[in-house]
Amino acid sequence: MAIPSAPLVAVLGCLYLCSAVLAARELGDDDAAMAARHERWMAQYGRVYKDAAEKARRFEVFKANVAFIESFNGGGGRKFWLGVNQFADLTNYEFRATNTNKGFIPSTVRVPTGFRYENVSIDALPATVDWRTKGAVTPIKDQGQCGCCWAFSAVAAMEGIVKLSTGKLISLSEQELVDCDVHGEDQGCEGGLMDDAFKFIVNNGGLTTESNYPYTAADGKCKGGSGSAAATIKGYEDVPANDEAALMKAVASQPVSVAVDGGDMTFQFYSGGVMSGSCGTDLDHGIVAIGYGTAGDGTKYWLLKNSWGTTWGENGFLRMEKDISDKRGMCGLAMEPSYPTA
Ligand SMILES: *[C@@H]1O[C@H](CO)[C@@H](O)[C@H](O)[C@H]1NC(C)=O
Repeated sequence: MAIPSAPLVAVLGCLYLCSAVLAARELGDDDAAMAARHERWMAQYGRVYKDAAEKARRFEVFKANVAFIESFNGGGGRKFWLGVNQFADLTNYEFRATNTNKGFIPSTVRVPTGFRYENVSIDALPATVDWRTKGAVTPIKDQGQCGCCWAFSAVAAMEGIVKLSTGKLISLSEQELVDCDVHGEDQGCEGGLMDDAFKFIVNNGGLTTESNYPYTAADGKCKGGSGSAAATIKGYEDVPANDEAALMKAVASQPVSVAVDGGDMTFQFYSGGVMSGSCGTDLDHGIVAIGYGTAGDGTKYWLLKNSWGTTWGENGFLRMEKDISDKRGMCGLAMEPSYPTA
């Protein structure tokens, strides 16, 4: 085998390197780096596109989202920051239209209920509440592309009151609600309302466990059967609307279902910190308030559990500014809170 001379090695090496440099120049160095980043992101989230045209289109969206996220994070005076998560190849318009975001159907008429915490003294409440530390919160779940946030919100609130009333933390079945609860506003992956879920659970005699009736992220035929319930509730109550002090009384007592406007771009890419500033109030997403507290910089916050997996937010959780001047609360969180009763 002939050993190449040193000059030949240099020439070959340059041919290889220079062509790579030229290719990068053609695409633009930044675009090449961004394309590589898009590839890594696709691998991380298992994203596959149907053809090159779709990939090219998604790349443009990805690039624009990364630019938005980086410019947001670079701006001064922010209490929270954004991240390149699983929604990074969707425009905000597309994100709003996904079932991931738009599963909450607001109630047209809220039938008045009692509010058992009305006489709780705000001054007597602890400064910080985090129901995770009391073992009343199951690990973060992921609703995927099914618009049943309402089921995840109702189940999370129920898991909380069941733990507080029986001492047992049981992961309960959202799929049983998706498949079997077809009354009121509740329409499986096409949306629903937590209060209607609570009513169904009462009539159903409870819910079975997550492992007994696992989540499929799709509408299915009801495989339920009363008698298999692992836990139940007696009813539900609404927290007086647009009253963060009332919400605090309730959240200090148990996890509480809340509806928010989850359609803003800052919500789509929320990654950490205390969400603050402007946000919509067109309620479209059900989550659950599991506590409150005060951040290091003095900002008061609500602590919430979402159902978009652990790659969104603070490992799946969210903090939103508390006691803001708009009575409806951050992203409307104080507009329609409710909780199940044991
Ligand atoms: C709160 O206090 C009022 C006045 O004492 C009383 O009428 C009402 O029943 C109390 N509410 C609850 C939920 O205990």
